[in-house]
Parts: sequence; structure tokens; C-alpha cells
Amino acid sequence: MSQPNPPLESVSTISLRCLRCQKSYPADEVRYLCDCGSQLDVWHDLEALRPLLSRGLFDGRLSGAPGPRVTPTTNSGVWRYREIILPATVEHIVSRPEGNTPLYEHPRLSNWVGADALFLKHEGENPTGSFKDRGMTVGVTQAKLLGARAVACASTGNTSASLAAYAALANIPALIFIPAGKIATGKLAQALAYGASTLQIQGDFDDAMTLVQQVCNEMGVYLLNSLNPFRLEGQKSIPLEILQGFGWQAPDWIVLPAGNLGNTAAFGKALYEAQQLGLVDKIPRIAAVQAAGSSPFYQSYRLNFAERKTMKAETIATAIRIGNPVSYERAIRTLEWTNGLVTAVTDEEIMDAKAMVDGVGIGCEPASAAAVAGARQLIAAGVIQPHETIVGILTGNLLKDPGATVDYHTGAWPNAQFANPPVQVAAELAAVRKVIEQRL
Ligand code: F0G
Repeated sequence: MSQPNPPLESVSTISLRCLRCQKSYPADEVRYLCDCGSQLDVWHDLEALRPLLSRGLFDGRLSGAPGPRVTPTTNSGVWRYREIILPATVEHIVSRPEGNTPLYEHPRLSNWVGADALFLKHEGENPTGSFKDRGMTVGVTQAKLLGARAVACASTGNTSASLAAYAALANIPALIFIPAGKIATGKLAQALAYGASTLQIQGDFDDAMTLVQQVCNEMGVYLLNSLNPFRLEGQKSIPLEILQGFGWQAPDWIVLPAGNLGNTAAFGKALYEAQQLGLVDKIPRIAAVQAAGSSPFYQSYRLNFAERKTMKAETIATAIRIGNPVSYERAIRTLEWTNGLVTAVTDEEIMDAKAMVDGVGIGCEPASAAAVAGARQLIAAGVIQPHETIVGILTGNLLKDPGATVDYHTGAWPNAQFANPPVQVAAELAAVRKVIEQRL
């Protein structure tokens, strides 16, 4: 199966290309938008790559390096696909390593969702506990290649945790803009612990996003939000790993939570490219799931994108509390490429789905559970058929947001279906025994 690796110089064929007017720029130019104002893609020469890349090449890299030292090119689920992500040489790569996340399946959960088989790709099991590490290994590697003096992002928490870690690894100062009081405790703790300069903005995520772009443009700091096309290249490895995990036979659906729409954008590009390269014959349909209180993309979708909706966002799933998503255009393209769709679920549905995912021993943060709630809703509505193969993306780890979990189980949600409150017991054996006898 194993094939020799193509030399990287033969695949160094990337540039930045506008997705609207097609204007292209050199890949080593620091820019996030085209002169026409539209977003940029990292463009790969798929024609030149097609004869060099194959299923066998990627399968041959699966085993990892022998011995105690990990190397990104053999141990990372991102750099395994380096020719179609960022053709960097190993000494420049900043990696933990990331990716190679498990694909779970649990009959009780599939049953609750109404599917014969629901698979869950657990991106919360990445090094800093979210899928952001896949984008950040590429974004920070590119920052290093460009000689950036500092890196920055606005974040609902996971991007900042990941940026803080990877910037620390690369020894580059990190500036983080977060909405004050609106990110989960675990995520704030990570940013502080990894040594990032943390600015708590007295506003929401959308305000922080506007500010960080101004700062990056004025102060020569490298922006590592998903507006940065290199970030999205790394996140492409999630669907690539799914396709490879299924033996290059595409599942019918990938269902994912959608906030700033970076993943929705990256998934479409990855699937399109995989098909163009002949790695798969068929690609899955994408279902993007928003929280009802933070659903501008869903509102626009319902209008057939005749109008771009924005809103003042609110939801328990703070990771996706976003009212003006950055990758709007790129996400529409994903729907076109994958025959995709968008839906929205309530906070109650999110928290009940989370309790189900947690309760089977897998666990995730609230935003991730939107994928599971969305799959359940789409099956009930007859959009997804029970026999179809569904992969839900769990984007973040249970431990990211202990507050939301404890609140759910201790009565904050009157209609909580699966609350598991702790029991107060006197420090006496008889009292303890009584509680246990009631439970078993
Ligand atoms: N799930 C989690 C756990 C997230 O942290 C995010 C985004 C999403 C889903 C949505 O992904 O933005 O690609 O549509 N978090 C960003 C952050 C915004 O700052 O950490 P998206």
C-alpha cells in the first residue's frame, strides 16, 4: 500500500486566490482579503497534484513514527495530508501533534437520535480540547514562516486556547480578544495558563472580531481567526480523516455545529478537492446546525441567501454565540458543492443532546451537542433517513464548560430530560446506604 512520498518542492504550488473575482496573490503575502473585499482561499494546483497523490500514499502514513519522538509528518492527522494543506518542511512545523481523533458509535445514542448508525468524530480530543488545533498548527506554522512579530485572534474561547498553546510552542507573543464574561471557564483558564496577553473586551464576540482586525491591520500583527485562509486549510483535515476512516467510501452526511462558519467553509473545500483529486467518487452532504438564538446563517438560508442576516446573538452554547459570521460566503459555497443544508436547534435541545452524549460516556461541550440535536431533528423531519450513514462532529471537550454542565444537572433547566443531580447525604453509613439502596 505504502508509496514513496513526493518531494515537497514538486508540490509547492500554492497561492492565495479570491473566491469571488479569482484574483491571485503570492502565498507569502500577509493578506486576509482580496482587493475586491472578498475572502481568499489557499489555492492548490489540483491538476499537478492529481498524479502525485493517492489513497495509498495517505494510508501508508497512518502507522506513525516508531520510537519515543513524535514527528508531525508521521504523527499528526493534519500534516499527513500536507500536500493539500500546506507544503511546509518538517523543521518549520509547529505541532503537538493534533488530529487522529476517534470516531465513536454508541447504540443508545444512535437509538435516541433515530439513526441506525450515528458516528461521532470527537474533535474535543485534540491537544487543547477542540478542533481549533487542526487549524492552529497550520496557522502558527505559516506565522513562523512569515516571521510574524505577534499573532492575534478574537474568540469565543476555543480559538484563543489553541492559539495561546501553539504560539507558546513557537515562542511567538499571542494577543487574545475575548468577550468579557462570555467564555467558558476552561477556555479562559487555558489562555491565561499558556501565557497569552488576554484582552477582555466589554462587548460581544462580533465587537471583538471587528477590533482584532483593526489592530492586526494597523499594528502588523498576524491574524489567526478563521478569516485567515491557512487556518481553514488545517481544518480541512477533519473531513479528510473521516473519508480515510471510512476507507475512502463517503458517509451520507456530515452534521456539524456552525458559528463563525469556518468549519462549514473548510469542510466544503476539503470534500470538493478530495473529489477533484480522485480520492473519493462521492462526497457526503453537509448539514450545518446553528443555535436558534445565534442563527444568522440559518435565517439567510431560509431566504435563499437573498439577504445576509445578522443578529444580536444569544445561546447557552457560548462557542457559537456569533451574530455576524465571518465565513458567510465560503459557507454558501460549501452548501452548493455538497448539496448541503442549514438548520437551527433550541438551547433546550442542545442541552438534552449534550446530556445524552455525556451520559453514554463520550462527553462534549454544549456547542458540539448542536450537531447531535440537529441530526435528531433532521431524522424526525424525514430529511435524513435512518439507514443513512451520519457522522456528527463533536467540536469541543466536556471539560471546557463545566459551568453549563453543572447548571443543567442542578436545576437551571426546568425541562431538563436527563438531569443527574448530586445527592446531599449526612456523613453517616446508614444515610449513605439508604441512598445507594434507592439507586441500585
Ligand atoms: N464548536 C465549538 C466548540 C467552537 O468553539 C466553535 C467556534 C464552533 C463549534 C463553530 O465553528 O466557527 O467554524 O462555525 N469557536 C470559535 C472560537 C468561534 O472563537 O473558538 P465555526
